[in-house]
Amino acid sequence: MLEVKEINQFYGGSHILRDVSLSAPVGECSVVLGRNGVGKTTLLKCLMGILPIKSGQMLLDGKDIAKMSPEQRVRAGLAYVPQGRDIFSTLTVEENILIGMAKFSGAKTRKVPSHLYEIFPVLDEMKHRRGGDLSGGQQQQLAIARALASEPRVLILDEPTEGIQPSIIKDIGRVIRKLADQGEMAIVLVEQFYDFAEEFADNYTVMARGQVVAQGRGDDMPEKGIRELVAI
Ligand SMILES: Nc1ncnc2c1ncn2[C@@H]1O[C@H](COP(=O)(O)OP(=O)(O)OP(=O)(O)O)[C@@H](O)[C@H]1O
Ligand SMILES: [Mg+2]
Repeated sequence: MLEVKEINQFYGGSHILRDVSLSAPVGECSVVLGRNGVGKTTLLKCLMGILPIKSGQMLLDGKDIAKMSPEQRVRAGLAYVPQGRDIFSTLTVEENILIGMAKFSGAKTRKVPSHLYEIFPVLDEMKHRRGGDLSGGQQQQLAIARALASEPRVLILDEPTEGIQPSIIKDIGRVIRKLADQGEMAIVLVEQFYDFAEEFADNYTVMARGQVVAQGRGDDMPEKGIRELVAI
């Protein structure tokens, strides 16, 4: 379980995150919703240790991770699929996935586990192609496979459906659901689209201007009042 308790973050004098709290239990897809610029990516960067927080707590299975470096957090079990994917376009698909295994040592760092190619068969077909040759949707699948390669306890995804064709959105959705249902990891999914969130959220958090403005169980996510706070 990942817990965020009343975190505050500033960019210079701008107060970007204001007392943000949420819980992401193992076996659930925890969706964070909100429009452009409300602070979703900032929250995820704080979780990963890429940005410092001014106050608050971040706990992984009860252990405080707030002072850890990004590398230490990856070792502790966090994996991040950044907005815009950030795959290495000159490296092959296989090399990109192997980068996700850097926290391991020995022979384990040299072979992509077959289950990752089973999750995303297209990556198996394209494993010797360069990352930059893949479509946007395939690159997103690659970024998710790279994150999964670290065998995370918490998988953090920043708008994985952004700019991707509907058929691949469906594939990605199926994978996220399956991973959550396997019950071995917590998933934190940032989204702007109500319908996608409504389909996948076991619990939801809606942000507006750096604050949590609604939170609850996915089954009880009210359409009225929330649709206005997201993109569509
Ligand atoms: N490096 C930065 N320096 C200063 N302000 C920043 C920086 N990055 C983001 N911001 C500001 O912080 C706020 C939150 O940005 P953030 O990227 O977290 O939003 P977001 O919810 O992820 O938006 P989007 O849906 O467009 O990805 C915005 O007002 C943005 O302008
Ligand atoms: Mg963002």
